[in-house]
Amino acid sequence: MCGIIGIVGNSSVQERLIDSLKRLEYRGYDSAGVAGMVDGKLQRRRAKGKIRALEDVLADAPLNATVGIGHTRWATHGAPSEANAHPHKSGRVSLVHNGIIENFAELKRELEAQGRVFESQTDTEVIAQLLDSELDKGLEPLAALKATLDRLTGAYALAVLIEGEDELVMGARRGSPLVVGYGEGEMFIGSDALAVGPFTNKIAYLEEGDYVAIDHATARIFDETGKAVERKTQVVSASAALVEKGNYRHFMEKEIHDQPEGCQRTIAAYVDALSDTTTIPGDIDFTKLDRIQIVACGTAYIAGLLGKYMIEQLAGLPVDVEIASEFRYRNPAISAQSLAIAISQSGETADTLAALRHCKAAGMKSAALVNAVQSTIAREADVVWPIHCGPEIGVASTKAFTAQVSLLTTLAVAAARARGRIDAAEENRLVRVLLEAPRLMAESINLEEAVRNIALEVSKARDVLYLGRGPMYPLALEGALKLKEISYIHAEGYAAGELKHGPIALVDEATPIVILAPFDSYFEKSASNMSEVMARGGQVIFITDPDGARHAPAGAKVVVTAPKCDPLIAPLVMSAPIQLLAYYVAVQKGADVDQPRNLAKSVTVE
Ligand code: G6P
Repeated sequence: MCGIIGIVGNSSVQERLIDSLKRLEYRGYDSAGVAGMVDGKLQRRRAKGKIRALEDVLADAPLNATVGIGHTRWATHGAPSEANAHPHKSGRVSLVHNGIIENFAELKRELEAQGRVFESQTDTEVIAQLLDSELDKGLEPLAALKATLDRLTGAYALAVLIEGEDELVMGARRGSPLVVGYGEGEMFIGSDALAVGPFTNKIAYLEEGDYVAIDHATARIFDETGKAVERKTQVVSASAALVEKGNYRHFMEKEIHDQPEGCQRTIAAYVDALSDTTTIPGDIDFTKLDRIQIVACGTAYIAGLLGKYMIEQLAGLPVDVEIASEFRYRNPAISAQSLAIAISQSGETADTLAALRHCKAAGMKSAALVNAVQSTIAREADVVWPIHCGPEIGVASTKAFTAQVSLLTTLAVAAARARGRIDAAEENRLVRVLLEAPRLMAESINLEEAVRNIALEVSKARDVLYLGRGPMYPLALEGALKLKEISYIHAEGYAAGELKHGPIALVDEATPIVILAPFDSYFEKSASNMSEVMARGGQVIFITDPDGARHAPAGAKVVVTAPKCDPLIAPLVMSAPIQLLAYYVAVQKGADVDQPRNLAKSVTVE
């Protein structure tokens, strides 16, 4: 997770770059740097550590530029050091980057074969080298940027300076956010509204795949095909910048779209992408634990259930997951050799906090898996494992859920490795699979249109059933919870194998049945359940992957085809369709999506 800023100004930009980076420091603070155009030449200043260290460098060697870029870093590829700090430079190019380039190793080999020499271990330098090589071919800056972007796989937001272009900053985004700020004879790009907040409150949010060139007066924006496009500008309040909706109608919609970035940041914090290994802080010896006890409420509880499936499957370590309000009062059998994990977005849920205290009093080591790191649960646990999805405003949890699941999946891989259930090569493979998740989640969010088309029909239903097997069972629970929370339609999630033990009695022509079934080891069984409900007139919405779509029995009302992925990350990739379904049904019904009746974001009373 990194923060970026770019300014085409009328006066010195040094102070403004620093001001902006300080506002972005919540996104990371391993190192920071700025670059600017001084007398037609690129100059940069970088420092390891917080922005303060960069200020010291600038005090000794000011950057007298009116056009510049800046970066505050959360290390992913390459240790936090000055050499790995952004901006990265190659020939005529200097640039800053937020995101992860998945094919950087392949591109680096190609560029090295052309004789290019790298000075850092970052994935970002590959972009600078590639762009410089395109300029060397004689392309204009924008054409060279487009040619470079076409070669990148992964996530990025970029701000770019080109030597010889005194009044130009270019930017691009895919998977990581970027806004354009419109000032008075000055223009800005930055990671969010907060970054440009002190300079202008008139901004435009770039869309996936967009790239942009700013000068003193204008922003020329292009979509991923290279077509010039307009993006709506809006006036935001700087103080509200942290919690604004951008181009979205509701926070929930925005937060669904925020998920690839939130998961990317969360996974990046718990893996070393250079060695493809997991790094879980807290000195937990997974070989000494007899059990993991997860306590949580609501959606966090469902994330815990998914954690159980992953951890038991991969690490062979028993996991109990319990609703905190039950756990705290029922005298559960507790062992001091177990690890307690309290999962809570807010870190303030009263029942979860009480359950955590119960575990601690029984002598268990405890970990807090939270979004709010200043919260009570975070303060009271022995170890804090933050998710990094940013503030979640919509009452119905979406991005916190997938970030929690990302972290628990990473934990499962770490525990499996520590307990000798997988070897180093398998750990490497699974980490690479995890790093693919954000890109595939973004593809899954692209199913939005397909899901929106089902919403009208589902909004007329009285009851909706969600069925799944294996990890798709907790996801079926989450789908039902989302729908009921925000659209007020009665919905139930069931293990598909339980169909014949009750819910099949509900099936008739008016009951939509959402079946979650990627083409995994459970698929045949789920497909049989699908046939059983269709034989009774049930209207099946089949959420699957390309192989599942090919093998599904004919007769589903709708088939939604999510991208193919490794089973490890299927819950992450399959989350967006069920969230979007709940969202569009609620919109269709005119419900208050972000603040559903009777609910609260944080339940601090029992
Ligand atoms: C409320 C929210 C849910 C959330 C649950 C637990 O019910 O509406 O979205 O999952 O509380 O909250 P926590 O902050 O502990 O994750």
